[in-house]
Order: sequence, then structure tokens, then C-alpha cells
Amino acid sequence: MPADPTPTTLADFEAAYREALPEGTLAYYSGAAADELTLGRNERAWQEITLRPRVMIDVSDRNPSVTVLGRELSSPIAVAPTAYHRLAHPGGEEEMARGAEEADCVYTLSSLATSRPANVAASGVEGPRWFQVYVFRDRAVTRELIAEAVEGGFEALLLTVDLPVLGRRDREISTGFVVGDAESVPGVNAAGGEGLISMQDTADLIDPSLTWDDVAEFAEASDLPVLVKGVLRGDDAALAIEAGAAGVVVSNHGGRQLDTVPATAEVLAEVVEAVSGDGEVLVDGGIRRGTDVAKALILGASTVLVGRPALWGLAAGGADGVAAVLEILKDEFDRSLALLGVPNARDLAGRSDLLA
Ligand code: FNR
Ligand code: LAC
Repeated sequence: MPADPTPTTLADFEAAYREALPEGTLAYYSGAAADELTLGRNERAWQEITLRPRVMIDVSDRNPSVTVLGRELSSPIAVAPTAYHRLAHPGGEEEMARGAEEADCVYTLSSLATSRPANVAASGVEGPRWFQVYVFRDRAVTRELIAEAVEGGFEALLLTVDLPVLGRRDREISTGFVVGDAESVPGVNAAGGEGLISMQDTADLIDPSLTWDDVAEFAEASDLPVLVKGVLRGDDAALAIEAGAAGVVVSNHGGRQLDTVPATAEVLAEVVEAVSGDGEVLVDGGIRRGTDVAKALILGASTVLVGRPALWGLAAGGADGVAAVLEILKDEFDRSLALLGVPNARDLAGRSDLLA
């Protein structure tokens, strides 16, 4: 009996994604900065956290829901913002958003999308969605995209602060990765991108002069809560909250920016302590299992975001592939709740007794 080729694990989806995409796109999606040490650390750090389950607790009724920014989410797993989805699937960001909706997970649209916030909103996708903001040197373009996101029912802004310049992307350089024509990336085109563009060309359009004063500008301008994405230290997290952010995303950009920074799992507790309940703390980077999600919540994160796994699903199977990847993580998280002896996700926070 031939094995069923339908992917059933995240590793299967990654294998199918590798079959589906050309070398340059794989270099861009899978690659990271310099020696890619942080890329590996991200996954290993979650794996190296040992769980100490409790037994003989009634786990027959389980509840994976959490509350983030005052909204109940059916699971603490969101799709991280990633750029240029039409390189993975002709349906692009709308297809990714449909898959997230199918799995009832938050979808985060990147400012470097091959679509516009209005197009995603008009595509009929009803699921909860956030908009990730890169502040372009031409801030009017950023303000316009934010206004479109507000109009389109996006519920929060993720202000990405760890890409004032692009990390050294050796794989992209060696493969000569080119995104395509600037016109295929509306935000980049509006910000001045012309002709065939690379990720470096895109990054050159992003404003490297951001300071904490800018958080207020975007929080006030849009009336949406702002989560500052790309924080790795407690002192910066405290400054983000002081500056008016509703919270932070502990992130090292999937290892794609400054190599040899810590894994997000290694600094999450420090950030949670520094924020000390004055805002949301989310985390991304190397989340590949439901046990990773449980560990993140035990350490105090309210939700996790996944980047590359959602791209694997999109490339392998469009919206259904994205939904399948998210449903695998949700199933594994549900099993983790049961096997840890903690039936409600909301009760994981602070349960350091569950960690060796
Ligand atoms: C990203 N990431 C990212 N972040 C952001 O704020 N805006 C963006 O446009 C992108 N684009 C992007 C493209 C690709 C191909 C990747 C892999 C990542 C970073 C992303 O939001 C997230 O921080 C990491 O991907 C999380 O790590 P994992 O889940 O990919 O290990
Ligand atoms: C990257 C940018 C788009 O990591 O965030 O490629």
C-alpha cells in the first residue's frame, strides 16, 4: 500500500514546500541572517525546555481560548506577518488569510504584501486580522496603508522595529533572489520601488530613524492598539509600554536580522517580567510544535505567531494547506493541555512548576 502523500506533519508540509518553490524563493523564505545561528537556536531553545506534567487531574473538558487585546481568540496561535505571498501561491495574501480563517486563527498582513489591506478585506475573509507596519521613509505611504487597514477592519497594528536595515542575507545574495516587479508589491511601489526589486531594495525604502516617539504617532493616528514587534530585552519592552504600545512581540525576526541574538524562548520571561502585566506579550520564532505553544504560555506569552510554517502550508496547499498546518499545531496544543494536566490555556501562565 503506497504511503498517503497528504502531508500530516509540519515536516511533511516543509518537504512539500521545498518541492514546490524555486531556489531563490526558498532561499528567501527559509533563509536567515549571516551564519543562521539564531535561526537554529530559536527551534532548539523551545525543544530544550523540559515539561513536568501533573497527572490525575480531570482534563475531559479543555479550553484552548485566550484573550488578547480584549478579544477572545479560540486558540493562542496566530499567523506572523511574512512578505510577498504571491511567490508561494498565486492567491497570495488573500489565500493565506482564508487559510487562517478556516483554522480560526489571527492573520497578520505584512506591509510588504503582494496585496493591499483593502484587497484582503474585500476578499470576504472574516477572521480576526492584524496589520504589520514597516515605516517607510515616505511616511505618507505608511499612513495611507494604516488608514486602509483601519477601514478594512484590521484590529491591531504590529509595528516592526527590528529592521532599520536588512540583516545580511547570504542565501538571498548567493542565489540572486529577486522579488519581481515593484508593482507587484503595492506598498513598496507606493514608497518609491521601481522595476525589478530585491529584498535589499525593499529594505532601503524603510525608515531607519524610528524612535520611541514614533509609537505614539501610529497609536494616536489609527486608534488601533499597537504591538511593538522585534523586542528582545526587558528594558526595551518597558520603553515600548511607556511610549504607548499595547504590548510587544518578543521576536528576532526568525533569525533574519542580527545573527547570534538570543532565541526568543531564552528572553521571553525577562520581557514578561518587565512588562509586568501592563501590556500584552506575544512571541514568535521557531514555534513548530503544540508543546512549544504551551511552553510560551507557561512563560507568560498570551499568544504565539508562526511565520515559516504558514508559508509551508501556503506553498504546499494554498488556504487548505495553511489551515492544515494551523490545525496540526492546535491539535498538538490541545493534547499538551491534557497531558500537562492543565485543561484551560488561560491557567498556563506562571505555572513554572510545569517546567524543569
Ligand atoms: C518574515 N518576517 C517578517 N516580519 C515582519 O514584521 N514583516 C515582514 O514583512 C516579514 N517578512 C518575513 C518574510 C519571511 C519569508 C520570513 C520567514 C519572516 C518575520 C516573521 O514575522 C516572524 O517574526 C518570523 O518568521 C517568526 O519565526 P518563524 O516562525 O518563521 O521561525
Ligand atoms: C524579511 C522582511 C520582509 O524578513 O521582514 O524578509
